Amino acid sequence: MYNRESGHNIEKINIKNVLLRHQLNNELMEKIDWTKLPFGYLKTDCNIRYRYKNGKWGKPEVSTSEYIDIHIAATGLHYGQEAFEGLKAYMGKDGKVRLFRWEENAKRLIRSAEGIIMAPVPVEMFREAVFSAVKLNMNYVPPYGSGATLYVRPLLFGSGAEVGVKPAAEYTFIVFVTPVGPYFKEGLKPCSMVICRTVDRAAPLGTGTFKVGGNYSASLRALIQAKEQGYASAIFLDAREKIYIDESGPANFYGIKDNTYITPKSDSILNSITNMSLIELAKSMGMKTERRRVPVTELSTFAEAGACGTAAVISPIGKIVDPDVNMVYEYCTDGKAGPVTMKLYNKLVAIQNGDEPDEFGWMTVVE
Ligand code: PLP
Ligand code: COI
Repeated sequence: MYNRESGHNIEKINIKNVLLRHQLNNELMEKIDWTKLPFGYLKTDCNIRYRYKNGKWGKPEVSTSEYIDIHIAATGLHYGQEAFEGLKAYMGKDGKVRLFRWEENAKRLIRSAEGIIMAPVPVEMFREAVFSAVKLNMNYVPPYGSGATLYVRPLLFGSGAEVGVKPAAEYTFIVFVTPVGPYFKEGLKPCSMVICRTVDRAAPLGTGTFKVGGNYSASLRALIQAKEQGYASAIFLDAREKIYIDESGPANFYGIKDNTYITPKSDSILNSITNMSLIELAKSMGMKTERRRVPVTELSTFAEAGACGTAAVISPIGKIVDPDVNMVYEYCTDGKAGPVTMKLYNKLVAIQNGDEPDEFGWMTVVE
């Protein structure tokens, strides 16, 4: 159920319910081993909700419920009018909580909304929702050094009723948070991935560059098959020619050779904020960077390979198997991530945790 109280000062809304929920959750929280946290859902104190009706966004509501009351004919349910984001809040050694490049997520959600004709969420509203959700759930930000973080999940969907295929007139925007551990259970241990030629995650002129739910349901057959065969994830190829690397299910791909960071350019992949940041870090470390088409055949020339994203952070890839052409590409035979991957990882995480100066202006303290 929605909490019906609302107002402009989001911190003052519904605080009694939030505190009550907090007391109930506190006991459970004390039992959490943050170092063993999976990438999963854990209940927190509250989430933030907005509704778009009659051409405008309403006021924020703070809800202690994990459920939504949704119209049976909502376009989000029938026609996939849904987009989401993922960003993280990090606890620093100094006790300050920082968000990484939230404005990029806000801009990408606008592009996703426009891509599937939804009402966009203004950047300022996105900021208010994300920062309020973190502030009201501050106790769930995992401790410094635990390797876990607070994952922030904004989602936007058509909540207005339509039966014909058309965009809804009403939308709902929700931000919830949940503490998470590493996305790939291997963490920094190199994982194995498999090239998928039987499923396309997104079409060249489709929705692959938008962060919309439909892309993820389209990828599920391939991901489940990959997992059943013991791989951490599938790697998708370009849908048109099946010659070039696109990306892995939840993360972009990169390869390293000759002091160069190489990552695919494609019109069917998500523009990863982590990847964008790694390109800047690689440049600052004196490396060359290339964003271009990456043919599968080039995999044999890389010294290192990895997957990168908010959830995945940097996941080193030790082995890529291409079963259809009987090829195996191996990168880390000693079970350890390569030196360039480790350098990029350490620098990125040091900035995110506030251990190193934020020379790129990526972090915002949540106050
Ligand atoms: N590619 C896909 C399909 C994703 O879902 C994600 C996750 O957001 C990424 C790449 C990485 O993007 P980012 O670094 O912005 O999280
Ligand atoms: C992210 O990295 O934030 C993602 O959205 C990937 C996945 C959990 C869908």
